[in-house]
Amino acid sequence: MKATIAQLQKQFEQALVAAFGEELAGTDPILVPASNPKFGDYQANVAMSLAKKLGMAPRAIAEKLIQHLEVSDCCEPPTVAGAGFINLTLKTDYLMGQLKQMQMGDRLGLPRTKAPQRVIVDFSSPNIAKEMHVGHLRSTIIGDSIARVLEFQGHDVLRLNHVGDWGTQFGMLITYLREAYPAALTQADALEIGDLVEFYKKAKQRFDEDEAFKEAARQTVVQLQAGDEATLQAWRLLCEQSRQSFQKIYDRLDICINERGESFYNPLLPGVVEDLDKLGLLVEDQGAKCVFLEGFTNKEGEPLPLIVQKSDGGYNYATTDLAAVRYRVQQDQVERAIYVTDAGQANHFAQVWQVAARAGWIPDSVKLEHVPFGVVQGEDGKKFKTRSGETVRLQDLLDEAIARARTDLEERLQKEERHETEDFINHVATVVGISAVKYADLSQNRTSNYIFSYDKMLALLGNTAPYMLYAYARVQGISRTGGVDLSQLTPDSPILLQEETELALAKDLLKFDEVLGEVEADLFPNRLCQYLFELSQKFNQFYDRCPVLKAEEPTRTSRLTLAALTAQTLKLGLSLLGISVLERM
Ligand code: ARG
Repeated sequence: MKATIAQLQKQFEQALVAAFGEELAGTDPILVPASNPKFGDYQANVAMSLAKKLGMAPRAIAEKLIQHLEVSDCCEPPTVAGAGFINLTLKTDYLMGQLKQMQMGDRLGLPRTKAPQRVIVDFSSPNIAKEMHVGHLRSTIIGDSIARVLEFQGHDVLRLNHVGDWGTQFGMLITYLREAYPAALTQADALEIGDLVEFYKKAKQRFDEDEAFKEAARQTVVQLQAGDEATLQAWRLLCEQSRQSFQKIYDRLDICINERGESFYNPLLPGVVEDLDKLGLLVEDQGAKCVFLEGFTNKEGEPLPLIVQKSDGGYNYATTDLAAVRYRVQQDQVERAIYVTDAGQANHFAQVWQVAARAGWIPDSVKLEHVPFGVVQGEDGKKFKTRSGETVRLQDLLDEAIARARTDLEERLQKEERHETEDFINHVATVVGISAVKYADLSQNRTSNYIFSYDKMLALLGNTAPYMLYAYARVQGISRTGGVDLSQLTPDSPILLQEETELALAKDLLKFDEVLGEVEADLFPNRLCQYLFELSQKFNQFYDRCPVLKAEEPTRTSRLTLAALTAQTLKLGLSLLGISVLERM
């Protein structure tokens, strides 16, 4: 009903001018959803805010305003309540018309944006030779959902994986492998990512303990940067190993992403430093090249530097992000760039973007946004770890979720004395397990820390994936029981809104576009989850009160259509969270 609100907004603006004169042109009518459904659907609070300016009592303002308000096409006659609230109730006819539009086309009547943008979503972005951890899982799930919503709205989205595939860690790792496991550097598939992570730990240990090793590792970095073919070949192999293991996770999660790692920007780094120098922003501090930041100070209150080239000549994470932002603006022509990382990187981005802005690399038309999220915690509130205190491997985490979903399912089948094939059980357990992991993450306000609990995410009741999947499957169950092909229901037969629960469900269905608009603007997928949860609840209330298959015509078809629209909305909404539905579960 985003369109409805926009329309009401316009009508209010006109009425304000008609009632009180030109000087009120552009006044915000302060139109919000009604605080209580018994007052109607929307309320306008503008009368209170104008009392002083107009020197009138708010109630009198409201009374005068509604005489000029022309909303009869969609609302019952407006009423004034309390201190001067204007209450609006949508007409049932109007709602029926809107529902009809939802039935047309394959997008549930949802329009594409009129202002499509070129958007980059920078997400997932694990580091080569290190295991992808739960933080990357959050970034992957949240970033994917944001990308899906923006794509659906009609934006041109470039999904980028800013993989950490360059840097001093390769010096260490390659040096270590040369002595410990040379085959890994010449032969594809010689290593599993698990081994690579082990090797990485050992290499780090050698690096910290052994001076000669340290020197050799530095030499290797120099060789790598100088483009030495054998070293590059080793680097490429290591990246390939990691890439394959990341891809396995992406496949399981149905994530589509383009790799454009840190190494991609490597050739551009000297230019970044040179240009900062030409602009007079560069300062040499103890051999390092840096830009002093505005608004970032150390304990002594002195400005902090952002180092862009270390004293040994090497570049760092920030230099790469400077090159990346410039590339994205100039080459990708991005208008909105969204970076999905843990909240701990907020300063990093603020600093890099400040320097880029001062260098004049970010036109006003470009919006850069950090989408931060909190840390993943175990049920004890501490950092999420395995029982033995190791970081949890994502493959294991997904396996575990699926295994538990399977146990739950098998118990349920036994109780219901249902016999299902092994294929069915596998499929349902996989979808439920993966969906539960995704949904649990997305349904939280992403800025808070997130407590990982298999039991909570797999619960059949509550704001969980299984609850939503179940509501969808319930509708499919109605269609099977009644032998009705829901896709054959046409907009020709009207949806009758007689019962309160029908009306409440219909109104909720029509709020989908509003919610999508919010997610598009603020990038909080939990709003979409909340919406789908409430929609499922409204549906269940409707289904408890209103017989569907047993109702007489035309009520029967009307209710079937409402149920079908609910299922379609759930399916589409869940798909925007990266979750697929089950016809039966
Ligand atoms: N690789 C980084 C990490 O693991 C995340 C990269 C995020 N994107 C970026 N453009 N800096 O923390």
